[in-house]
Amino acid sequence: MTPYALDARAWQESWDRQQEAYLPDREHRFAALLDAAEAATDARPLQLLDLAGGTGSISLRALARHPDAQVTVLDLDPVLLTIAEASLSGRATVVTADLNRADWPEALPHRAYDAVLTATALHWLDGPRLAELYREIRDVLRPGGVLVNADHMPDDALPTLTTRLSDRARQRRAARHQAGAALSWEGWWAQAAADPVLAPLVDKRQQIYPTGHSPEWTPPAGWHLDALRAAGFTEAGVLWRNGSDAAVAALR
Ligand SMILES: C[S@@+](CC[C@H](N)C(=O)[O-])C[C@H]1O[C@@H](n2cnc3c(N)ncnc32)[C@H](O)[C@@H]1O
Repeated sequence: MTPYALDARAWQESWDRQQEAYLPDREHRFAALLDAAEAATDARPLQLLDLAGGTGSISLRALARHPDAQVTVLDLDPVLLTIAEASLSGRATVVTADLNRADWPEALPHRAYDAVLTATALHWLDGPRLAELYREIRDVLRPGGVLVNADHMPDDALPTLTTRLSDRARQRRAARHQAGAALSWEGWWAQAAADPVLAPLVDKRQQIYPTGHSPEWTPPAGWHLDALRAAGFTEAGVLWRNGSDAAVAALR
């Protein structure tokens, strides 16, 4: 019998479908992140850090645009990093580190990135830690380098419309899950736990993230801009927005 091997492409595809059910504009936000990274410098090859990068979604799209880019994926999840490693197969440096610890930069192969890009991830941290992390990110950027963080960041000037948009998005997502158009977060992890290669890593992950998810701390974009300025970035603003999600960008 042929031994079972992980099909990274298939797992990558199912991760994308699962995430897109929550974020139908996911590719738009990735494009906004990559446009900002390209615009921040004329230097090539680009040095990019895909922070809390999971399966390496941003890295794969960056390498599709710039095959010579020097990319680092950092995350803490052994399941997602195994898929990242298999998908990127030598085209990126994949590192394990905990963003809740101030020593995470020690895991990096570089200290002067052109861009640090992160999506749908930093809401896993609490406010005081995220404010510190913004300072630490500034220190791993070269002068003129850019940080872009795309995440759930409601616009506090539009509370009623934002709530109604979120309700409609939730209804559409529930219908897609009900119809089997995409796996839910929980369904995806159950599928991973049934995979012979990923199953032991799912057990390991359970010890790292005992509740399986995050505290979901999602302050408005204005909070992020204040924290970025306090962290010493020279410019900070909203780069992209759709409904309750936004991407903030900041230049060192
Ligand atoms: C929803 S996933 C998004 C992954 C990827 N950016 C994407 O868009 O596909 C959130 C990621 O944040 C990572 N993460 C959460 N807390 C972390 C921490 N303390 N240190 C490192 N990574 C963390 C998780 O492991 C997970 O991979």
